Amino acid sequence: MKTGENLALKSFTTFGVAARAARVVEIDSPADLARCRFEPATDLVLGGGSNVLLAGDIDGTVFLNRIRGMRAVEDRGESVLVEARGGQLWHSLVLWSLREGLSGLENLSLIPGLVGAAPMQNIGAYGVELSEVLERVEAWDWQQGRMVEFSTAECGFAYRDSRFKSRDAGRFFITRIFLRLARHFTPRLDYDELREELGRSNIAAPDAHQVSRAVIMLRRRKLPDPTLLGNAGSFFKNPQVSAAEAESLRARFRDLPSFPANASTVKLSAAWLIEQCGWKGHREGDAGVSDRHALVLVNHGNASGAEILALAHRVRDSVLERTGVRLEPEARIYPETRT
Ligand code: FAD
Ligand code: EPU
Repeated sequence: MKTGENLALKSFTTFGVAARAARVVEIDSPADLARCRFEPATDLVLGGGSNVLLAGDIDGTVFLNRIRGMRAVEDRGESVLVEARGGQLWHSLVLWSLREGLSGLENLSLIPGLVGAAPMQNIGAYGVELSEVLERVEAWDWQQGRMVEFSTAECGFAYRDSRFKSRDAGRFFITRIFLRLARHFTPRLDYDELREELGRSNIAAPDAHQVSRAVIMLRRRKLPDPTLLGNAGSFFKNPQVSAAEAESLRARFRDLPSFPANASTVKLSAAWLIEQCGWKGHREGDAGVSDRHALVLVNHGNASGAEILALAHRVRDSVLERTGVRLEPEARIYPETRT
């Protein structure tokens, strides 16, 4: 368990904003956790920092998840139970599972960050969410000082949400997840753009590797690479509104992309709403909105977290004023604010 004092955090998040932490602690094993205390008001757990905006310094401790490893733990014939530890790179788990002949994670290829953060917001992409393959989560309960387990049903998963992100925010350190992966591949091609991408390569009946490669190509084309341009992916969630509200919005904005979320709600494209308000490619100093994808806020070099947050507020307020739709941030903002 390595610790450091007054450390610079610029390289710890994909936004690459300057901030300092009073203390940083690397957690290498579950035993380290028993030796630590967590103060939710000031402390923070960090994985790859790809869904976090540091809007100021962290006065408390930043805990880094360094508990790595992944393995098949139970062969169930048609499926295999896989254990992945929280400090493992998510995409390395996806690639390993494909090499092992296991499918289920291919649509979630190339999502940045670590395994331990995946249940936080129930990561999702190209028509698949983590909750569909997850069996259980193991976490350290800072409050009770003991290890606990949650079945998928107990995790409170929803679109970009879970109990870990909402009602139990700051209570658990996720140490391991268990996934149920399939030996027999069933393609999940509900997402139009994914089918089109495979079509461009003349692939009619893809295998899991081909789906993974198509997802990787799409993502590389559509999203700015955080190693070249600081960002945290989608800064806002796609808003979900009632069917009636969606209907009245579509009457005003004929081309507004919308998708049924469940029986009573409709998901709207936040990127489209932001683009309509004229923000795509906008830049204020080094804080900006990507010119590739309007839902992605970017750091052109030396923007501060506070500048990016101020821009996010202006984007949110203008969308609200023009359309009546309130955007909620997907990225987590620290130190915690009203947003
Ligand atoms: P961090 O950013 O370090 O942390 C995120 C949150 O989880 C914080 O609140 C943190 O405190 C908490 N946390 C982290 N680890 C733990 C742990 N072990 N225990 C408890 N709490 C923890 N997300 C998607 O869902 N789909 C996408 O398609 C997608 N595309 C992206 C594309 C780009 C270019 C980028 C930069 C981001 C994208 N994201 C996407 C967002 C991000 O990659 C995911 O949310 C990812 O799971 C975050 O992992 P991380 O390790 O970087 O978490
Ligand atoms: N669009 C615009 N302008 C843009 C970009 C997109 O109008 O600049 C419109 C297009 O009409 C497009 C629609 O928005 O059809 C949807 O765009 P896209 O397919 O890129 O998906 P998204 O809704 O913007 C979501 C996730 C991504 C995930 C992709 C693929 C959220 C908040 N974002 O983006 O996740 O990778 O779908 O499944 O749900 C993330 O969470 O960080 C993230 C990148």
